[in-house]
Amino acid sequence: MTAPFTDVHEAHIKRLQALEAHIDDEGLLIGDTHVMFFAEAELMSMHADALLSGTTRANILEVGLGLGVFAEQAAAHRCATYTAIEPHPQVASLTQERVLRRVTRDTVVHVRPWQLVRLAPRHFDAIMYDTWPPDGLADADFEAFVEHVALPSLRPGGRFSFFSSGASVSPRRAAILSERFRDWSEEQYTLPPGRIPIAWTKPTTDFTIPVAVR
Ligand SMILES: C[S@@+](CC[C@H](N)C(=O)[O-])C[C@H]1O[C@@H](n2cnc3c(N)ncnc32)[C@H](O)[C@@H]1O
Repeated sequence: MTAPFTDVHEAHIKRLQALEAHIDDEGLLIGDTHVMFFAEAELMSMHADALLSGTTRANILEVGLGLGVFAEQAAAHRCATYTAIEPHPQVASLTQERVLRRVTRDTVVHVRPWQLVRLAPRHFDAIMYDTWPPDGLADADFEAFVEHVALPSLRPGGRFSFFSSGASVSPRRAAILSERFRDWSEEQYTLPPGRIPIAWTKPTTDFTIPVAVR
């Protein structure tokens, strides 16, 4: 069974792909909106630690490559392979060139939405999920991702994390993690006031770093 990729998803991806992407001093803009900031490096470093501490030569999957802030932090953990999914061709090539070459020699970027990518079963040691879903579908897509991608493609004992705004994981996502994973936990992080970029677009500076174990 494949993950749902509806007309709404298709239209969303087409709109996204039609927007210009560029990087400025603060981060990545798609169209005229900043979607990721260099200031999120410390937060992404906590995700990388939660996913990769204690692993050796991990096979990593990142869904939503974006600016490569997570990938840069993951590089410190010396992974074996890095697979990224990023449907915006310009974003994929900018970040592949600027960041991925330094992460490991063995990298693959699928320039498609995650719903249309087939991955090897039980291959990955760690998965980071950080996408930009259509309005109103964030939780439904998250659930579909867990069922159709995270669980089948993680090896037993592999770890899953995702970008999570706010002071705690939402009740719906907490229930999905509790039902579908062996164990999970979360840490809190607040972006220090002195490091908030001028162009900050996110609804909060509070985040959680969830990690679930398959
Ligand atoms: C917030 S950014 C990711 C930031 C990235 N994790 C980093 O550390 O820089 C979200 C990314 O998800 C991508 N995206 C949107 N829809 C997607 C989909 N269906 N599959 C995979 N990636 C998607 C966007 O193009 C965008 O680059």
